[in-house]
Amino acid sequence: MSVSPVICIDGPSGAGKGTLSRQLAQGLNWHLLDSGALYRAVGVACQRAGVALEAANEVAAIASVLDVDFRATDEGITVWMAKEDVTADIRSEAGGLCASRVALHPEVRELLLTKQREWACAPGLVADGRDMGTVVFPAAPLKIFLTASAEARAERRFHQLQGTGGNVSLPRLLADIKDRDARDVSRKASPLMPAPDAVLIDSTSLTVEEVVQRVRGLASIRGIASDTTD
Ligand code: C5P
Repeated sequence: MSVSPVICIDGPSGAGKGTLSRQLAQGLNWHLLDSGALYRAVGVACQRAGVALEAANEVAAIASVLDVDFRATDEGITVWMAKEDVTADIRSEAGGLCASRVALHPEVRELLLTKQREWACAPGLVADGRDMGTVVFPAAPLKIFLTASAEARAERRFHQLQGTGGNVSLPRLLADIKDRDARDVSRKASPLMPAPDAVLIDSTSLTVEEVVQRVRGLASIRGIASDTTD
């Protein structure tokens, strides 16, 4: 399907996909697709337009004209919608919950498919999401399914948000994570599941560096990218 190599990183919320994908893309000097940010952008755009997240046709209409742009800054990647920096809204817990509700609609997933595939260009792409290996890039030469226990994921998110001075509760985060997991796994359109040829990595008791090294090693063994430390 795609000529440029793609490494797919799928798995549930908070398993560490974002950090792993960023570090891989940086180390390899490849493009990075944060597909969750696209669903989050649709959710935020719907809320701003006063569209009910359950209204499939109206949500799809918003998704079809979505004007989203990613910009690299010294602080990381910022997300812009129609010339406005919406990074904070998109990254919030509420943004994640909205995303998982708009992601239920097959019409919306279909509309975002082409947008996501356009990211696969030279020298290569690291694609972070839920259905990268199963639906978006089924021919990718390396697919990782990254998991961790719900408790470990909630705790990581808790420390992350505490670091930004946010007012958060661990039980609430755990409940939200379980809520999103249930929606992602049980939806009819592209449910969250490992591709048959995905390599499963449980990051509960691994450091970020250990996970990155493992994936770089696999990429090297498969001849996709050399295993030099950058
Ligand atoms: O990865 P992130 O937490 O940003 O994703 C937010 C939500 O968007 C997920 O909980 C999931 O419902 C949805 N999503 C999806 N397919 C993707 C990426 C994200 O359904 N490829």
